[in-house]
This record gives sequence, structure tokens and C-alpha cells, in this order.
Amino acid sequence: MLRRNAHQLGLATSVAVILALAACGDGGGGDTSGTGGGSSGVGAGNPTSSGVGAGTPTSSGNVDPTTTSSGNVDPTTTSSGNVDPTTTSSGNVDPTTSAASGGGNCSPAVDITAPSGNPFADAHLFVDPGYVKKVDSSIAQVTDTALKAKMEKVKQIQTAFWLDRIEAIKELPAYLDAALKLQNELCEPVTALIVVYDLPNRDCFAEASNGELHLDQNGTQRYREEYIAPIKQILAAHSGQRIAAVIEPDSLPNIATNLGGKRCDETTAQSYRDNVAHTLKELNMPHVYQYIDAAHSGWLGWPDNQKKGAKIFAEVIKAAGSPANVRGFATNVANYTQLSYTAESYDQQDNPCFGEFDYVDAMASALSAEGLGDKHFIIDTSRNGVGNIREDWGYWCNNKGAGMGQRPKANPGGATNLDAFVWVKPPGDSDGVGQEGQPRYDLFCGKENADTRAPQAGQWFHEYFVECVKNANPAL
Ligand code: BGC
Repeated sequence: MLRRNAHQLGLATSVAVILALAACGDGGGGDTSGTGGGSSGVGAGNPTSSGVGAGTPTSSGNVDPTTTSSGNVDPTTTSSGNVDPTTTSSGNVDPTTSAASGGGNCSPAVDITAPSGNPFADAHLFVDPGYVKKVDSSIAQVTDTALKAKMEKVKQIQTAFWLDRIEAIKELPAYLDAALKLQNELCEPVTALIVVYDLPNRDCFAEASNGELHLDQNGTQRYREEYIAPIKQILAAHSGQRIAAVIEPDSLPNIATNLGGKRCDETTAQSYRDNVAHTLKELNMPHVYQYIDAAHSGWLGWPDNQKKGAKIFAEVIKAAGSPANVRGFATNVANYTQLSYTAESYDQQDNPCFGEFDYVDAMASALSAEGLGDKHFIIDTSRNGVGNIREDWGYWCNNKGAGMGQRPKANPGGATNLDAFVWVKPPGDSDGVGQEGQPRYDLFCGKENADTRAPQAGQWFHEYFVECVKNANPAL
């Protein structure tokens, strides 16, 4: 899935522009149009700027691993128990939950109001028990005690719970119940993090994460009735806790730059707009915080692309009725782009945004120009700890040498309205199958920098997890 950018980079062999640009996205960037094109690289625009790169060194520094935890645990607190997500004959999940919307013995009761509207602030960031199981499977396979100890630390870090197919919804009530149970034990807000990711004709510019729903097979109806409707019910039944939701990675960015390429035709583009708007509208609840996927610096970093993206985001939000809970945007989801400039080996092609901090600043301005000056950002730092690992900025699949990046953290600073560093892509989950001939094989998963031993997207890739742990920066 995610992050196709070779096309945005376009003519990969063109002018090796070394840039500078202090102000990403304003001025110095030249006239990059970056329209569509496919990995053959059509339409990279017209790089004009030059100048010598500056940029700030990669930040590192120790970030306090996530969570604050603390608080007194009250062992007497009752849990709401696991909800049986009984599937009905129609395949719909029955989201009936128990006392999922609050409760507990905390005195005073936990106030889940987010400080300044930031759901990650002053909260414990809930760790997905499903991810912990995957990490445990890796711990069982290694003998090196130092490595094991590092892996143990990963089990304290929040990663997102991906609703990547209808079937996955069955696990959502139990996931949220467990977060609520913890909230009632800690007597402090616990924030859950989910990803909504099942659009019809999903991943139209790549192969690796093509989804289960198709427009020509009643995809829109199924998306709305069998996917969004039950998610809405389940979230509504968990109104006593904070839930951050990343909305449909790649979809709107694909419309911005890849229209006409591969399977990103007009019909698909329109359906992405309509269905994302539908989702934003349906999931508009005060305890839910929606972050629309906004690609990353190596994709919508060029000024023209920023503008196109911002315009589409604004149109879709408006079409949804400008829901109050659209908190902002998620960048770098499942990508490898670093926070700040590092000497990557790829040709940056006049892209003034070297890294995600620059990009967030630039997107904030572009969104302001569209009347969305109040939006906030989260950056996926799960695998961007190490730079200089790819020949081309557009490589997005299982890049060898990757390391975990900054730990999830609220209000980390560094860019405009930045709510948090988050780990959306669970490190160790594959980006896409690496062997040619397998279903959903994408050429990017066979590139020179890709680890071609990879299983299907989303499946656990132990060897890759080991690498991400060993290369973590900051170290685990
Ligand atoms: C896959 C999803 C998976 C997600 C998280 C995506 O690339 O398509 O199936 O849930 O990554 O690993």
C-alpha cells in the first residue's frame, strides 16, 4: 500500500537538483506540476529552482517512550469484558456492547476531554494487544538476550489497529473494551488509535494493498453498509473514551497526483471523494478524532502538489458538511521519510520539503489558504529512524535498513500544529509481498532496496521486524 511517489518524483533521471529552501512550499520551489504518471515517471513537472541544500540535521534526541502511564491502578475495577462481536447472517457485525461508554470506579470519574483538542495529550496511548502477540512471536524466535530486551520494550509502544477488511471489525469491540478497561484501571484517559482502510478500488496506484471491495461489485454500498455503518455503531457505543482515527491512507493523495494512472480513473477518484466524505460525516462524534491521510513530503511536497492536495481535502471536508471532529491530517503513514533533512541518496528533484516537519509546515499553509487553518497533524514515525536507505525517494516497500523512529509522543514540537508522533504502520508488518508471481505483487516490492522475502501486506515479517528493532533511532 501507501506511498507511491516515484510518479510524483517523475523523471527520476532529470536534473539532479540540490535544493535548499528554507521555506518549504513557498516560493523557491519552482513549478512542479507532478501530474499523475505512473512509475514510468511522466509528468514530474518542471524543476526550476536550484540552490544548495540546507535543511536541519535530523533530529534525534531521546524521546520519552510514549506513555505516561502512572496513576493508581485500582485492582477492583471491573472490566466491561470482551464483547462478543457476533456476526449476523448478513455478515454484519453486531456491535452491541456492554457498559462500553464509561463506567469504572475512578473518583473523580475520568474526564476524557482532550486538552486543546489533542487526543494524544495527557493520555495513556493504548497498545494493541494484537501487535503485542506478533512481537511475542518474534521474541520467541530470537536467542540474543539484548535483542529480546529491545523487543520487550516495543510491547509498550502504541501502534494502530487497522480495520483493513470487513472481517477485522469483529475485533474492534474487544480492542476498544480493552482500552476502556485500562482507562478504568489507570483512572486517566486512554487513547485508542485505529485506521479506516477499506475503500472500494483501494490502492488504485499500486498492487500490494488492493482491497476486498470493488466498485463494479456493489463496492460503495458494501463499504457504507457492511463496513462504515458497523464501525460507526461500535465507536458510538464507546463514547467514554478517546479514539483517534486515520482515514483511508493514500486515497485522496492518489487523486491529487495519480489521476489517470493505473486504476486511478475518474470513476474511482469520484468514489474516493464521495466515500471519504461519507466516512467523515458518519464518524463525526465528539470522542472520535479524525485525521485524513495526507501523504508525505516525497509525494505532495512539491508546491503544486500541495495546493492540489489541499484543495481536494477542503472539497471533501466541505462535502462531508465540515464535521467538527476532523481534527486534521496524518502524514508519512507507512512511509520511511525522515522528520528533517538527511543526506539521502535519491534525487530530490526540486522538492522543497526535505522532510516531514517541512512538509507539515507547508501543508498547514496550503490548508490555511483553503480555509482550513485550524487543522492539526500527526506524523507516522514508526519506521523513519534511519535515512539514506533507498536509491529513490519513491521506494515505499519493505526498504532494507529501516529502523523504528521517534516514539509516539504528544505535542513533540518541530512543526505547525503537530499533535503527535504516532506509529500508524506497525513495524514488522509487511508492506507487500516480495516475490514476483504472487498475488498482489507490486514491482516496488522487488526493487533493489526492498527486502524481497516479504509476505503479503499486513502479514508479520519477522526478519524485517528484527531489522527495525536493531536499527531503531533513537535506540530502544
Ligand atoms: C496492509 C494492511 C495492513 C496495514 C498495516 C497495509 O499495507 O494493506 O492489510 O493492515 O498495512 O500493516
